Amino acid sequence: MNNTIAVIGLSWGDEGKGKFVDYLAQKADIVVRYNGGNNAGHTIVANGVKYKFKLMPSGAPLEKEGVIANGCVVDPKVLLEEIENLKKLNKNIYLKLSSTAHVIFPFHRILDGLEEESKGNYAAGTTKRGIGPTYSDKAARWGLRVFDLINPEILKPKLEKLFKIKKELINIYDPSWSVNLDTIYEEYKNYGEQLKPYVIDSAYYLNKALDAGKNILFEAAQGSLLGIDHGYYPYGTSSNANALGISAGTGIPPKKINKIIGIVKAYTSRVGEGKFPTELFNDNADKIREQGHEYGTVTGRPRRVGWLDLFNIKYGIMINGVDKVIITLLDALEGINPIKICTTYELNGKKLESWPIQSEIIENCVPIYKTFEGWEAKSRDEWLNIAKKGYDALPEPMRIYIQSIKELLNTDIAMVSIGPDRRETIVLEDINF
Ligand code: IMP
Repeated sequence: MNNTIAVIGLSWGDEGKGKFVDYLAQKADIVVRYNGGNNAGHTIVANGVKYKFKLMPSGAPLEKEGVIANGCVVDPKVLLEEIENLKKLNKNIYLKLSSTAHVIFPFHRILDGLEEESKGNYAAGTTKRGIGPTYSDKAARWGLRVFDLINPEILKPKLEKLFKIKKELINIYDPSWSVNLDTIYEEYKNYGEQLKPYVIDSAYYLNKALDAGKNILFEAAQGSLLGIDHGYYPYGTSSNANALGISAGTGIPPKKINKIIGIVKAYTSRVGEGKFPTELFNDNADKIREQGHEYGTVTGRPRRVGWLDLFNIKYGIMINGVDKVIITLLDALEGINPIKICTTYELNGKKLESWPIQSEIIENCVPIYKTFEGWEAKSRDEWLNIAKKGYDALPEPMRIYIQSIKELLNTDIAMVSIGPDRRETIVLEDINF
């Protein structure tokens, strides 16, 4: 018996995964991050306290064991800050950090910005946290890993080599750039010392935990459409931000990944660049952005918003093998009438069979919509009350909207969410390990 559940965002990230990782973490023994780094922003509201994590697995408020696995890239400074913040809230920290996760250095962040500038129209609008350049170094096999970080005698020669190469590269863009290598070395040696107690061989650890019957929850960062291999290239991130990344990013064999839960937000949002076929630019966009608090957790950027695009989500359901869907932020559509769902795209007057993955094709597609009646705005207390009463208490147009998503995706809806609080979740079908 393999007790594993994965929570995946099916769009461009920010679908509200953190809330459901927190919900499912109550039944989990271990919560695992397996992709991305501090480009992620996971918000959890628990018992009136708002937690914002960039790296820390979202089970931390519940004091669950968290593993940052090998598929992640780690900015040690950010991780240490998150550990400190949790300590200040009197939380016990049960963190494990993979010795084979890659480390983000200051020159990665600088290169992220410089490369973006030189990409022009092909820039993804990155978070400038050094994510892409760190994964590039991993693929080029000169990146430094957590194991190197915690062993100063290994860190020094490797860092010297990498620094020389990166400095030459940065100087092509900016001849005046110079920092002191010794300063970086001392700073990172210090981070290594502080992180050492958390470091493990995470693949061995997680497989042993599974064998011992532990429940493991995998928490994806970003969303399926931002995935490097099966997303909207080049306007995505540099990791497999979907279920396909779990095995490579943890060392858990594919056949041991049991349940895949896809998170679908009631509308679409996107940060960064690239065509967004269902994007809205009118008053509705402003309303959704405000009601859904659509501002980046990491960068604070206002997110682009638009109608729900079930055509690209269907693609995500296919590649992730989604078992059940959770719909989030339904309350954020309140007071908007009518509302729309994109069901397919047309290209040169012809309906497409499948989401066309190539950005150059997507740019020329026209979204085809189904129109729905909206629901009225309510106070927070009213939404809370409705959540308490259950599904039948939802406004009828909302129930029709949910039912239509279920039919259009041909999938089961396990839960719906009408507010950020744990109590604002309506369970249609519970999810168990
Ligand atoms: P990077 O991951 O910082 O390299 O950014 C690449 C693209 O992914 C940009 O369009 C970012 O806005 C987007 N992105 C990265 N992380 C997130 C996230 O957590 N939520 C939503 N978009 C993200």
